[in-house]
Amino acid sequence: MKGTMERRASSRAGADKPISPCTTISPPRSPLAVSIPDRNLLSRLIDHQVNDLAAFVSLLLTAGGETTDKVLSNLWHNLLTNPEQLELVRAEPVLLDHAFAETMRFSPPLVYLGREVVEPIELHGVTIPAGAELRLGVGSANRDETVFTNPDRFDLTRTDLHKGLEHRSISYTDGAGHLSFGAGPHFCLGYALARLEVTVASRMLLERFPRLALAEDPPPIRVEGPSQSPGRLLVRV
Ligand code: HEM
Repeated sequence: MKGTMERRASSRAGADKPISPCTTISPPRSPLAVSIPDRNLLSRLIDHQVNDLAAFVSLLLTAGGETTDKVLSNLWHNLLTNPEQLELVRAEPVLLDHAFAETMRFSPPLVYLGREVVEPIELHGVTIPAGAELRLGVGSANRDETVFTNPDRFDLTRTDLHKGLEHRSISYTDGAGHLSFGAGPHFCLGYALARLEVTVASRMLLERFPRLALAEDPPPIRVEGPSQSPGRLLVRV
Protein backbone atom coordinates (compact mmCIF):
# COMPACT_ATOMS: atom_id res chain seq x y z
CA MET A 1 0.00 0.00 0.00
CA LYS A 2 2.97 2.28 0.75
CA GLY A 3 4.24 1.89 -2.82
CA THR A 4 0.78 2.57 -4.19
CA MET A 5 0.50 5.79 -2.25
CA GLU A 6 3.96 6.99 -3.22
CA ARG A 7 3.18 6.30 -6.84
CA ARG A 8 0.00 8.27 -6.62
CA ALA A 9 1.84 11.20 -5.03
CA SER A 10 4.55 11.30 -7.69
CA SER A 11 2.14 10.96 -10.61
CA ARG A 12 0.09 13.73 -9.05
CA ALA A 13 3.16 15.99 -8.88
CA GLY A 14 4.11 15.38 -12.51
CA ALA A 15 0.66 15.31 -14.10
CA ASP A 16 -0.90 18.19 -16.05
CA LYS A 17 -4.35 17.50 -14.70
CA PRO A 18 -5.43 16.10 -11.30
CA ILE A 19 -6.29 12.42 -10.96
CA SER A 20 -10.02 11.92 -11.32
CA PRO A 21 -11.69 10.41 -8.25
CA CYS A 22 -12.57 7.41 -10.43
CA THR A 23 -9.05 6.68 -11.72
CA THR A 24 -7.87 3.12 -11.12
CA ILE A 25 -4.47 3.13 -9.48
CA SER A 26 -2.23 0.50 -11.06
CA PRO A 27 -0.01 -1.59 -8.79
CA PRO A 28 3.52 -0.22 -8.49
CA ARG A 29 6.27 -2.05 -10.37
CA SER A 30 8.20 -3.54 -7.42
CA PRO A 31 8.57 -7.38 -7.45
CA LEU A 32 6.47 -7.49 -4.26
CA ALA A 33 3.63 -5.71 -5.97
CA VAL A 34 3.26 -8.30 -8.74
CA SER A 35 0.80 -10.23 -6.59
CA ILE A 36 -1.40 -7.20 -5.83
CA PRO A 37 -4.63 -7.65 -7.78
CA ASP A 38 -5.43 -4.86 -10.20
CA ARG A 39 -8.69 -4.22 -8.31
CA ASN A 40 -7.01 -3.50 -5.01
CA LEU A 41 -8.73 -1.96 -1.98
CA LEU A 42 -7.64 1.59 -2.78
CA SER A 43 -8.98 1.36 -6.35
CA ARG A 44 -12.31 0.09 -5.07
CA LEU A 45 -12.59 2.86 -2.50
CA ILE A 46 -11.93 5.42 -5.24
CA ASP A 47 -14.46 3.77 -7.57
CA HIS A 48 -17.10 4.02 -4.87
CA GLN A 49 -16.20 7.67 -4.27
CA VAL A 50 -15.78 7.10 -0.53
CA ASN A 51 -16.04 10.40 1.33
CA ASP A 52 -12.81 11.71 2.81
CA LEU A 53 -10.64 9.02 1.27
CA ALA A 54 -7.39 10.38 2.73
CA ALA A 55 -8.74 10.18 6.29
CA PHE A 56 -9.99 6.61 5.71
CA VAL A 57 -6.67 5.45 4.26
CA SER A 58 -4.83 7.05 7.15
CA LEU A 59 -7.18 5.22 9.57
CA LEU A 60 -6.42 1.93 7.78
CA LEU A 61 -2.68 2.49 8.01
CA THR A 62 -2.66 3.23 11.74
CA ALA A 63 -5.50 0.86 12.70
CA GLY A 64 -4.10 -2.00 10.65
CA GLY A 65 -0.34 -1.50 10.90
CA GLU A 66 0.81 -0.66 14.40
CA THR A 67 -1.74 -2.90 16.07
CA THR A 68 -0.85 -6.00 14.07
CA ASP A 69 2.91 -5.69 14.51
CA LYS A 70 2.43 -5.24 18.26
CA VAL A 71 0.23 -8.31 18.60
CA LEU A 72 2.88 -10.31 16.72
CA SER A 73 5.58 -9.30 19.20
CA ASN A 74 3.22 -9.78 22.16
CA LEU A 75 2.33 -13.28 20.94
CA TRP A 76 6.00 -14.26 20.67
CA HIS A 77 6.78 -12.67 24.02
CA ASN A 78 4.01 -14.80 25.55
CA LEU A 79 5.16 -18.01 23.85
CA LEU A 80 8.86 -17.55 24.55
CA THR A 81 8.27 -16.72 28.22
CA ASN A 82 5.96 -19.74 28.56
CA PRO A 83 8.11 -22.49 26.99
CA GLU A 84 5.61 -25.26 27.80
CA GLN A 85 3.01 -23.41 25.72
CA LEU A 86 5.53 -22.90 22.90
CA GLU A 87 6.09 -26.68 22.88
CA LEU A 88 2.34 -27.19 22.40
CA VAL A 89 2.40 -24.87 19.39
CA ARG A 90 5.52 -26.54 17.95
CA ALA A 91 3.82 -29.93 18.20
CA GLU A 92 0.57 -28.63 16.74
CA PRO A 93 1.00 -25.36 14.79
CA VAL A 94 -2.78 -25.10 14.37
CA LEU A 95 -2.75 -23.96 18.01
CA LEU A 96 -1.30 -20.64 16.80
CA ASP A 97 -4.91 -19.63 16.33
CA HIS A 98 -5.48 -20.21 20.06
CA ALA A 99 -2.25 -18.37 20.85
CA PHE A 100 -3.54 -15.42 18.84
CA ALA A 101 -6.90 -15.29 20.67
CA GLU A 102 -5.25 -15.73 24.07
CA THR A 103 -2.66 -13.04 23.28
CA MET A 104 -5.47 -10.69 22.27
CA ARG A 105 -7.10 -11.36 25.65
CA PHE A 106 -3.98 -11.44 27.83
CA SER A 107 -1.87 -8.69 26.27
CA PRO A 108 -3.83 -6.79 23.60
CA PRO A 109 -1.94 -4.16 21.59
CA LEU A 110 -4.50 -1.53 22.66
CA VAL A 111 -5.32 -1.45 26.38
CA TYR A 112 -8.05 1.17 26.23
CA LEU A 113 -10.45 2.75 23.75
CA GLY A 114 -11.65 6.35 23.87
CA ARG A 115 -15.28 7.46 23.91
CA GLU A 116 -17.07 10.78 24.33
CA VAL A 117 -20.35 10.59 26.25
CA VAL A 118 -23.19 12.14 24.21
CA GLU A 119 -25.89 11.94 26.87
CA PRO A 120 -25.77 11.33 30.64
CA ILE A 121 -25.61 7.65 31.49
CA GLU A 122 -25.68 5.79 34.80
CA LEU A 123 -23.26 2.92 35.23
CA HIS A 124 -22.98 1.00 38.52
CA GLY A 125 -24.60 3.85 40.46
CA VAL A 126 -22.39 6.57 38.97
CA THR A 127 -23.83 9.14 36.57
CA ILE A 128 -21.43 10.06 33.79
CA PRO A 129 -22.29 13.48 32.35
CA ALA A 130 -22.63 14.33 28.67
CA GLY A 131 -19.37 15.58 27.21
CA ALA A 132 -17.20 13.42 29.49
CA GLU A 133 -14.28 11.69 27.83
CA LEU A 134 -13.93 8.06 28.77
CA ARG A 135 -11.16 5.53 28.49
CA LEU A 136 -12.64 2.05 28.32
CA GLY A 137 -10.13 -0.39 29.75
CA VAL A 138 -10.43 -3.39 27.47
CA GLY A 139 -7.11 -4.72 28.78
CA SER A 140 -8.63 -4.84 32.25
CA ALA A 141 -12.00 -6.23 31.07
CA ASN A 142 -10.13 -9.06 29.35
CA ARG A 143 -8.89 -10.15 32.78
CA ASP A 144 -12.28 -10.04 34.49
CA GLU A 145 -12.09 -12.81 37.08
CA THR A 146 -15.86 -13.29 36.92
CA VAL A 147 -15.48 -14.26 33.25
CA PHE A 148 -12.11 -16.02 32.97
CA THR A 149 -10.54 -18.64 35.21
CA ASN A 150 -7.01 -17.64 36.29
CA PRO A 151 -7.24 -14.47 34.18
CA ASP A 152 -3.62 -13.48 34.83
CA ARG A 153 -2.32 -16.70 33.32
CA PHE A 154 -1.45 -16.94 29.62
CA ASP A 155 -3.00 -20.26 28.67
CA LEU A 156 -3.71 -21.10 25.07
CA THR A 157 -5.59 -24.25 26.11
CA ARG A 158 -8.20 -22.36 28.15
CA THR A 159 -11.76 -23.39 27.45
CA ASP A 160 -13.40 -20.16 28.61
CA LEU A 161 -12.41 -18.08 25.57
CA HIS A 162 -13.86 -18.19 22.08
CA LYS A 163 -11.13 -18.91 19.59
CA GLY A 164 -11.55 -17.67 16.05
CA LEU A 165 -14.96 -16.20 16.89
CA GLU A 166 -14.05 -12.73 18.03
CA HIS A 167 -17.20 -11.26 16.53
CA ARG A 168 -19.14 -13.06 19.26
CA SER A 169 -17.50 -10.77 21.78
CA ILE A 170 -20.35 -8.43 20.87
CA SER A 171 -22.34 -10.43 23.39
CA TYR A 172 -21.23 -12.02 26.63
CA THR A 173 -24.45 -14.00 26.84
CA ASP A 174 -23.23 -17.01 24.89
CA GLY A 175 -19.83 -17.29 26.47
CA ALA A 176 -16.64 -15.37 26.92
CA GLY A 177 -14.82 -13.28 24.42
CA HIS A 178 -12.04 -10.74 24.70
CA LEU A 179 -12.87 -7.13 23.83
CA SER A 180 -9.64 -6.21 22.08
CA PHE A 181 -11.29 -5.72 18.69
CA GLY A 182 -14.00 -3.52 20.21
CA ALA A 183 -17.69 -4.38 20.23
CA GLY A 184 -20.91 -3.35 18.52
CA PRO A 185 -21.26 -1.46 15.25
CA HIS A 186 -17.64 -0.27 15.18
CA PHE A 187 -16.20 -3.74 15.76
CA CYS A 188 -12.81 -3.92 14.00
CA LEU A 189 -13.16 -4.11 10.25
CA GLY A 190 -9.81 -5.87 9.87
CA TYR A 191 -9.91 -8.51 12.59
CA ALA A 192 -9.93 -11.47 10.20
CA LEU A 193 -7.00 -9.98 8.27
CA ALA A 194 -5.06 -9.32 11.51
CA ARG A 195 -5.64 -12.92 12.64
CA LEU A 196 -4.41 -14.24 9.29
CA GLU A 197 -1.35 -11.97 9.18
CA VAL A 198 -0.23 -12.89 12.69
CA THR A 199 -0.84 -16.63 12.42
CA VAL A 200 0.74 -16.94 8.95
CA ALA A 201 3.81 -14.90 10.02
CA SER A 202 4.12 -16.96 13.21
CA ARG A 203 3.87 -20.24 11.34
CA MET A 204 6.65 -19.05 9.00
CA LEU A 205 8.81 -18.17 12.02
CA LEU A 206 8.18 -21.61 13.54
CA GLU A 207 9.11 -23.37 10.30
CA ARG A 208 12.12 -21.21 9.47
CA PHE A 209 13.55 -21.11 13.00
CA PRO A 210 12.47 -24.33 14.76
CA ARG A 211 14.89 -23.68 17.67
CA LEU A 212 13.86 -20.05 18.25
CA ALA A 213 14.50 -19.16 21.92
CA LEU A 214 15.08 -16.15 24.13
CA ALA A 215 18.60 -14.73 24.05
CA GLU A 216 18.09 -12.83 27.33
CA ASP A 217 15.44 -12.27 29.98
CA PRO A 218 13.01 -10.07 28.07
CA PRO A 219 11.71 -6.86 29.61
CA PRO A 220 8.02 -7.15 30.52
CA ILE A 221 5.38 -6.02 28.06
CA ARG A 222 5.17 -2.26 28.62
CA VAL A 223 2.17 0.06 28.39
CA GLU A 224 2.71 3.40 26.60
CA GLY A 225 -0.39 5.51 26.05
CA PRO A 226 -3.08 3.18 24.75
CA SER A 227 -0.56 0.64 23.35
CA GLN A 228 1.43 -2.17 24.85
CA SER A 229 4.31 -4.27 23.55
CA PRO A 230 7.72 -5.46 24.73
CA GLY A 231 10.42 -2.80 24.42
CA ARG A 232 12.57 -5.45 22.72
CA LEU A 233 12.68 -9.19 22.30
CA LEU A 234 16.16 -10.61 21.66
CA VAL A 235 16.09 -14.17 20.34
CA ARG A 236 18.53 -16.91 19.35
CA VAL A 237 17.77 -18.73 16.11
C1 HEM B 1 -4.54 -7.02 15.99
C2 HEM B 1 -4.75 -5.99 15.20
C3 HEM B 1 -5.90 -5.04 15.40
C4 HEM B 1 -6.47 -4.59 16.56
C5 HEM B 1 -6.08 -4.92 18.00
C6 HEM B 1 -7.55 -3.71 16.18
C7 HEM B 1 -8.40 -3.09 17.08
C8 HEM B 1 -9.51 -2.36 16.73
C9 HEM B 1 -10.48 -1.83 17.66
C10 HEM B 1 -10.42 -1.99 19.18
C11 HEM B 1 -11.42 -1.18 16.94
C12 HEM B 1 -12.69 -0.49 17.50
C13 HEM B 1 -12.34 0.93 17.86
C14 HEM B 1 -13.44 1.59 18.66
O1 HEM B 1 -14.51 1.01 18.87
O2 HEM B 1 -13.20 2.73 19.08
C15 HEM B 1 -11.03 -1.25 15.55
C16 HEM B 1 -11.72 -0.67 14.51
C17 HEM B 1 -11.26 -0.66 13.21
N1 HEM B 1 -10.21 -1.41 12.69
FE1 HEM B 1 -8.99 -2.59 13.74
N2 HEM B 1 -7.61 -3.63 14.81
C18 HEM B 1 -6.62 -4.44 14.30
C19 HEM B 1 -6.36 -4.66 12.96
C20 HEM B 1 -6.96 -4.00 11.92
C21 HEM B 1 -6.63 -4.16 10.52
C22 HEM B 1 -5.59 -5.14 9.97
C23 HEM B 1 -7.41 -3.28 9.83
C24 HEM B 1 -7.51 -3.02 8.35
C25 HEM B 1 -6.58 -3.29 7.49
C26 HEM B 1 -8.25 -2.59 10.79
C27 HEM B 1 -9.18 -1.63 10.47
C28 HEM B 1 -10.09 -1.10 11.37
C29 HEM B 1 -11.11 -0.14 10.99
C30 HEM B 1 -11.33 0.47 9.60
C31 HEM B 1 -11.85 0.14 12.14
C32 HEM B 1 -13.04 1.09 12.30
C33 HEM B 1 -14.32 0.31 12.17
C34 HEM B 1 -15.54 1.21 12.37
O3 HEM B 1 -15.42 2.28 12.98
O4 HEM B 1 -16.62 0.80 11.93
N3 HEM B 1 -7.94 -3.05 12.04
N4 HEM B 1 -9.88 -2.00 15.45
